[in-house]
Amino acid sequence: MNNFEYKNPVKIIFGKGTIPSVGKELPESARILMTYGGGSIKKNGVYNQVKEALKNFELFEFGGIEPNPHYETCMKAIELIKKENITYLLSVGGGSVLDATKFIAAGALYGGDPWDFLSQRYIVNVEKALPIGAVLTLPATGSEMNGNAVITKAATREKMAFGSPLVMPQFSILDPECIFTLPDRQVANGVVDAFVHVLEQYLTYPVNSPIQDRFAESILTTLIEEGPKVLANRNDYDAAANFMWSATMALNGLIATGVPQDWATHMIGHELTAFHGIDHARTLAIVLPGIMNIKRENKKEKILQFGQRIWGISSGTDEERINRAIEKTVQFFESLGVPTTLSGYEVPEETIGKISARFKERKSKLGEKEDIDYKQVADILKDRL
Ligand code: NZQ
Ligand code: ZN
Repeated sequence: MNNFEYKNPVKIIFGKGTIPSVGKELPESARILMTYGGGSIKKNGVYNQVKEALKNFELFEFGGIEPNPHYETCMKAIELIKKENITYLLSVGGGSVLDATKFIAAGALYGGDPWDFLSQRYIVNVEKALPIGAVLTLPATGSEMNGNAVITKAATREKMAFGSPLVMPQFSILDPECIFTLPDRQVANGVVDAFVHVLEQYLTYPVNSPIQDRFAESILTTLIEEGPKVLANRNDYDAAANFMWSATMALNGLIATGVPQDWATHMIGHELTAFHGIDHARTLAIVLPGIMNIKRENKKEKILQFGQRIWGISSGTDEERINRAIEKTVQFFESLGVPTTLSGYEVPEETIGKISARFKERKSKLGEKEDIDYKQVADILKDRL
């Protein structure tokens, strides 16, 4: 096992009827800005629950944050924060609202253009940020218990990530009943996103980490069992609760401790969203099987372990087992209604050249061994035509 440091200070408040407790988590003197998306929270009663719980607080609102949140939108929120002397941010929504809120929290206290956090990641670091709390309405990203955020600059069609422990929420409220109003597409996206998060931290190479491997496998198995139950019956509270906690556990840093991590699927997937607006999770469903196929040598031992422990594949040559593990993964995504090829989303072949050119320009080396260059990015995408 590799050396690691691990600290996760996010307080999780989980369960039915927990949203009204938001008032107890916020300082009485806070000037709060509640951030939200396109209006789902007004339809499902979450907005009213939060407003009621915070009726004695100084509460301002900023709505209209779009999925794959835009830098341009966040900058408007930063203006409002400065004008109203906001001291606390409360994100009410899915991963997009929360990611935007993280960017806003850091950007509001930064002297320069906050896009620097993304364009010069690891060079320009967040040094301070406003405190954040979250009411999560969509299990998928794990943003509720991590310090990452992904923001899109609409003007240049760039989608990039940044991270800092300073933008981890102070608390996140997870009421699984929020899932009851999710459309099928968002449930399927959430299952696929969480599943791929686990694989980005698992399908690498062995470092003798049986505890992390089994944590990861337990999340995968739970998603395979519970995801279809949530899709079939949106009011199944137990399935919703198990799904929600799985998605949080998939990306709160725990299963990444002491093991190599890949993230090439995400990096390539972000470009598909940037160019074609494809939902985040759907881009992962396209790219992951390509990575498993093209990087089958690098990942051999872990793909075999995944095949055996998750899909029960225990016979055949190594090549046959790897093929079968890829097939089973594709079948799982497709069974949730998520297409797994570029043609399934009408992405033209010329996009592959455009994406590859971006990685060439950035001199990117992706993957756990940093050996995926722009040419291999093109191979991976060609594998998914
Ligand atoms: O905007 P509203 O009206 O709220 O509607 C949203 C949105 O249209 C809707 N929704 C959310 N909760 C709902 C609901 N509809 C009905 N009932 C509810 N309870 O769902 C739509 C999608 O929401 P969004 O927040 O965009 O989805 P998700 O949580 O999947 O977030 C995706 C974003 O997170 C980033 C992705 O790149 C993408 O931009 N990621 C963030 C990560 C992180 N911070 O660690 C990691 C991930 O890998 C991912 O990259
Ligand atoms: Zn993701």
